Amino acid sequence: MAHDQVRKPKTAIVMLNMGGPTNIDEVGDYLHRIMTDRDMIQLPVQSRLGPWIASRRTEDVQKKYSEIGGGSPILKWTNSQGHLLVETLDKLHPATAPHKHYVCFRYVPPFTHDAFNAIESDGVERAVIFSQYPQYSCATTGSSLNAIADFYKDREIPKNIKFSLIERWASHPLLAKVFAERIKEKLAVFDPEVRDDVVILFTAHSLPLKAVSRGDTYPHEVAATVANTMLHLNVKNPYRLVWQSKVGPLPWLQPYTDDAIKAYAKQGKKNLLLVPIAFVNEHIETLHELDIEYCHDIAKEAGITHIERAATPNAHPTFIAALADIVVKHLADQEKVSKQFLTRCPHCVSERCNSSKQFFKELCGGITTDTSDITNEEAPSQSLNIK
Ligand code: FES
Repeated sequence: MAHDQVRKPKTAIVMLNMGGPTNIDEVGDYLHRIMTDRDMIQLPVQSRLGPWIASRRTEDVQKKYSEIGGGSPILKWTNSQGHLLVETLDKLHPATAPHKHYVCFRYVPPFTHDAFNAIESDGVERAVIFSQYPQYSCATTGSSLNAIADFYKDREIPKNIKFSLIERWASHPLLAKVFAERIKEKLAVFDPEVRDDVVILFTAHSLPLKAVSRGDTYPHEVAATVANTMLHLNVKNPYRLVWQSKVGPLPWLQPYTDDAIKAYAKQGKKNLLLVPIAFVNEHIETLHELDIEYCHDIAKEAGITHIERAATPNAHPTFIAALADIVVKHLADQEKVSKQFLTRCPHCVSERCNSSKQFFKELCGGITTDTSDITNEEAPSQSLNIK
């Protein structure tokens, strides 16, 4: 981008996400990386079973990607969001400009080492590590952060870069506002006769109950986003939170989205609106699982009269405003890594979690921001996918 080429960046915005294959050829490696990531999924004899499951599923998953156009749009959307975000930040917060975004994916390029090598060679002064999962889970954001800790295991932390971390933002009001706007767009499509009775089904990636019992904060953070969204939406429609994309035989968070669609059909509630509440951009879970498998195949089979699916935030201006507001408030905050992040799940027994949190304490520790150049008075602001 011309913007990036002509101005040396001062502040890096590192956008963490899982990523998705941009073409069919990347599917096998993508699945292999997920299935061998113990932060994401724990299997017996994982080093052998993980690759075996990945290779068995590759053909089926490749078929799904071909049905949505041959690849995931997550990189395209993350780059759009990143460009719009840094443009906004340059205007809102000139003290830390120029800002530059770096995409940091977990399972497809650009990987952690791509992003962090680029940050170091660009010579930035400040790096804000910004999870693009609004709701924190040890399996998603936690995994991406562990990968950063791994990257610096055998190399020196650059002393000339001040690092800080935004690891969750489930309750940000502008996030709720953009979800409410996305819901309104689709409620408007229903017949006015039934519009007020449409059941709004918020749907998020499920989590194994084992992780929930360990104390993973994801379920209640997703619920917080749902509650805030309903406050913004200010309608009287009934709503529920349901969970999608379960894999394997072990128990996961329920009710499952597909079962809920079938059950509501049986209860005679045949006007439904699905709202992906934990994804900020379109990818396979929205474009294939929700649109094709649920809204088309299952809804038809169950006899649903009318079903819609709300768009994800993507590059909606309210969403870009949300991202910018989160970063601006974070830049003014003295706390560079939250106590919430540094506290492990009550039943965590993972030494990897322990050492990763110690690493981030060191990486982000001891930083105080000179707030004299910050003009506006801001108060400190404060999963899973194997397709
Ligand atoms: Fe949550 Fe270790 S499993 S901190």
